[in-house]
Amino acid sequence: MATRVVRHVSELTTNDPSLGDYSVLGRLFDAALVVDDEQVLWVGPDSEAPDADEMIDAAHRAVVPGFVDSHTHLVFAGERSDEFEARMAGVHYDGGGIARTVASTRAATIDELHRGTRKRVAELVNGGVTTVEIKSGYELTTDGETRALEVARSFSDEVTWLGAHVVPPEFTNDRDGYLDLLTTSMLDSCAPHAKWADVFCDRGAFSVDEAREVLTRARAKGLAPRLHANQLAHSGAIALAVDLDCASVDHCTYLDDNDIDLLSASATVATLLPGAEFSTRSPYPSARRLLDAGVSVALATDCNPGSSYVTSMAFVIALAVREMYMSVDEALFACTKGGALALRRDDVGHLGAGARADFVILDAPRAAHLAYRPGGNVVASTYRADRSSSRR
Ligand code: NIG
Ligand code: FE
Repeated sequence: MATRVVRHVSELTTNDPSLGDYSVLGRLFDAALVVDDEQVLWVGPDSEAPDADEMIDAAHRAVVPGFVDSHTHLVFAGERSDEFEARMAGVHYDGGGIARTVASTRAATIDELHRGTRKRVAELVNGGVTTVEIKSGYELTTDGETRALEVARSFSDEVTWLGAHVVPPEFTNDRDGYLDLLTTSMLDSCAPHAKWADVFCDRGAFSVDEAREVLTRARAKGLAPRLHANQLAHSGAIALAVDLDCASVDHCTYLDDNDIDLLSASATVATLLPGAEFSTRSPYPSARRLLDAGVSVALATDCNPGSSYVTSMAFVIALAVREMYMSVDEALFACTKGGALALRRDDVGHLGAGARADFVILDAPRAAHLAYRPGGNVVASTYRADRSSSRR
């Protein structure tokens, strides 16, 4: 297998504390990295870099692990910029617009869904994402959710069934009927195409009891649980996520002390989605309280047409630093290793020997430029282990 050496790296973040400065971020300066088509083979000082078949000159720029975007809703049609404008003028977000995207997604052809998803995946990859989780949830019929998962599967292995996003309009007067559909024929049809099951457990969506029922049934069909929780209101959803050993509980905009205690004693990651707070003019989650309590935190884009039409992880990092008081290093870690933990993956989100060869060369000498230069594309090149790369 061909090998490549990345030389002249000004600052290399590995997220491997056995390397470099032995910090959580395992930083090396004036470093080099050797990879093959699959994995990282060697990391060390540039002066000791071994030969390889090909040399990539980082030209005294920084290298970070590829971003792991552990929460997106990329399979949709249409847009809702009018809702964004209304929110900026004071209207509250309550998830009600989801039904509009359900209507436009149902009306789209599968080719249109492929094209739209491909475009959004390309934007994420150009911004340094090398692993992306993709949810269904804008069709809410058995055939529609199944085709959304098939579209998602052509872009990622991290595919999530979100049939329990909201109760669709045709079931407004028959909530039990939709829950029955979810846990029988829709689940049977969707389970072979997904790895994860998710429920929007919040005010105006599904209750804690309903979410428990859907996730328990899904787990019996081989889908691992994750949960949207506490985006709109306090609820018992954090306790549910911990009780079900969800890999991740996402949003966490509203948390009380008990929620934080439960998370800190669990293996469930708190995934924060500040693009949603930015785009809905909502209060940002308390990242500091979570981090100070020792909770594992991930950051993700939540890319969707309603609450967060965001495809830039650098923007998410900038929001986390500016608005949520995370340090740049905490935010970078949450977008890489944190995302990997939220997907229960140990092969991505770091660059120690044996990790997947997913890395990003920044157009900057230090990773801090991701937050320091918001609005520009600080990512110069994205390298993925399958050798699909994106360069500027
Ligand atoms: O993660 N919270 C639920 N789902 C999405 C928003 C969906 C929408 O508004 O279209 C979210 O924010
Ligand atoms: Fe979401």
